[in-house]
Amino acid sequence: MKILGIETSCDETAAAVVTAEGEILSSVVASQMEVHAPFGGVVPELASRQHLRLLPGVVEQALVRAGVSWEGLGGIAVTRGPGLMGSLLVGLTFAKTAAWARDLPWVGVNHLEGHLLSAELGTAPLPRPFIGLVASGGHTNLYRVSSGEPAYRLLARTRDDAVGEAFDKVAKLLGLPYPGGPAIQDAAGGKEPGFLRFTSARMKDGTLAFSFSGIKTAVRYYLQAAAARGETVDAGEVAAAFQQAVVEDLVAKALRAVQDTGARALALTGGVAANEPLRRALSRAAAGAGVPFFVPAREWCTDNAAMIALAGVRHLAAGERSAWDLPAVPYLELD
Ligand code: KG4
Ligand code: ZN
Repeated sequence: MKILGIETSCDETAAAVVTAEGEILSSVVASQMEVHAPFGGVVPELASRQHLRLLPGVVEQALVRAGVSWEGLGGIAVTRGPGLMGSLLVGLTFAKTAAWARDLPWVGVNHLEGHLLSAELGTAPLPRPFIGLVASGGHTNLYRVSSGEPAYRLLARTRDDAVGEAFDKVAKLLGLPYPGGPAIQDAAGGKEPGFLRFTSARMKDGTLAFSFSGIKTAVRYYLQAAAARGETVDAGEVAAAFQQAVVEDLVAKALRAVQDTGARALALTGGVAANEPLRRALSRAAAGAGVPFFVPAREWCTDNAAMIALAGVRHLAAGERSAWDLPAVPYLELD
């Protein structure tokens, strides 16, 4: 069985074909980066218009590259939330229409489940229960993923900005290009933060919850104070100090989640999982705790449709079918 996956929750228009065994036959991602870059962030109305324009061609390309026709498909999986309402509606409406016209089974998928399962793309399933950190532009969520019920338990989330959002906002403060994550990583390069130190918030109540708005404000104050003194700031040094603080916080909380729950593995997913220092630090920490560490190849970290197709394959194989009136849900939860 070959499943077509469709992803349009934010600013990537993506389609992929995956087999029942989880083999990826094709994955096409049309980035809208140039459209949003002048605004320093995603403009929702422009995103949905771009999806409308790009999706038919992206789906066609995914089918051609996989060497499969519509008749050869066994089903369709599509992101139904969380994400931008207009963007979600483009993908969901396309999927419903195609399923209706071709008489195919289809299922709506939670984007966060896609991210968590991206750790299993092209590899054997992870040992369960595992701790999955979804670190992206919209989320900073720690989940316990198990083979029983509930399959996904949310252990912690951010109380304000998502970690990728913090990367993007700090990059903007430093005059670096959008998206900020790769720009911060590049600017930090191999630089040592030196004496400059920022810290992300640790919750007073001792929970695993994240908060990244404080560190962004600390960077802003630091830059304002330096400007008031007429000092020039080394953007690379600030980027390195910010990145180090964020990485330390993510590592400490992910590790505590592993220890608190007796999890058998740790997985890092989402756009921020492309961050090299974070990958290295979490890998080291997991090894120290004696659990295997999994992180997808970089192309599966940022939004893609292969992860949606993989989640969809499993739901469809379990006999699940979505109703025709299934809505798009911008704030869809996963547990
Ligand atoms: O998962 P994703 O593609 O979209 C969402 O669902 O949000 O994540 C995008 C986020 C952006 O905030 C981007 O700055 C961040 O991932 N990102 C990175 C890196 N590459 C992408 N953050 C830190 N380091 C990176 N190398
Ligand atoms: Zn995402």
